[in-house]
Amino acid sequence: MTKRFGLTVITGGAQGIGRALSQAFAADGATQVVVLDRDGDKATALAEQLQGRAVAVDVSDGSAFAQALETIEDDIGPISTFVSNAGVAWGFEAPLDNAAYASDEIWNKSWEINVLAHVRAARILVPRMIARGGGTFVQIASAAGLLNQIGSAVYGTTKHAAVGFAENLAISHGAQGIRVALVCPQGVDTALLSSIPVGPERGDGVLTAEAVALATISGLDEGRFLILPHEGVHEYVRQKAENTDRWIRGMGRLAQRFVSNDSEK
Ligand SMILES: NC(=O)c1ccc[n+]([C@@H]2O[C@H](COP(=O)([O-])OP(=O)(O)OC[C@H]3O[C@@H](n4cnc5c(N)ncnc54)[C@H](O)[C@@H]3O)[C@@H](O)[C@H]2O)c1
Repeated sequence: MTKRFGLTVITGGAQGIGRALSQAFAADGATQVVVLDRDGDKATALAEQLQGRAVAVDVSDGSAFAQALETIEDDIGPISTFVSNAGVAWGFEAPLDNAAYASDEIWNKSWEINVLAHVRAARILVPRMIARGGGTFVQIASAAGLLNQIGSAVYGTTKHAAVGFAENLAISHGAQGIRVALVCPQGVDTALLSSIPVGPERGDGVLTAEAVALATISGLDEGRFLILPHEGVHEYVRQKAENTDRWIRGMGRLAQRFVSNDSEK
């Protein structure tokens, strides 16, 4: 196995998709993985198994996160691949009342974790990667960032913003050797999926976190920007672009169906 990804940091790396990514990069392509997570105990336990390193930090704490990245660069080595995976799925509690119902606190905190953490990491790493001749920035967003999220405007909106940032990063810095990959899965069998009401994101089959990690590494090896572990998402994106009005009406019908099913439980 070639160590083509170098020192690899995975945020939210202790559980779920992040855990599978930590394991997959350690097994194939990373010289060493750094499991970065707000859950320090879980991160340490996994890092020990993988002969990697653990960093306990909350990515929504801008200064602590920046400090953690600088410490990794100074004490462990230059980050060659940064996998920005930590995310939260909040705002699913009362979708029929008002799509905008969630409090500013929920919106702001989701924004910090699902969007600003990517921006803050790039702010530190992009100049360093360019100076070193290149680097890889992987964002785990969601199909909700391309197709929206039935049941949570907070999740759908923040994941759209994450997609926008990944696109902009690739457009702005591709020529300077920054490779960007955007991973947009539908349902994946993790604690996050179990925490939200049943919705159409499970309709095309729930993948394992391991399958998403393998799809991510294959997509990187193929030099892809957009990595869609669920094949069907390509077709939904095409349908949305071809006739957005029809697509909105269809999604509206799906929303009625899933939200009323959920309220019958
Ligand atoms: N599970 C799915 O169905 C699914 C589908 C599409 C996209 N995603 C995205 O994949 C990513 C990982 O999701 P998952 O399903 O593995 O979630 P998960 O809840 O199982 O695991 C998330 C991990 O991130 C860590 N984390 C959360 N907030 C953090 C913070 N502020 N700072 C540091 N660490 C933090 C948690 O401690 C946990 O270890 C998320 O961005 C999520 O939106 C998940």
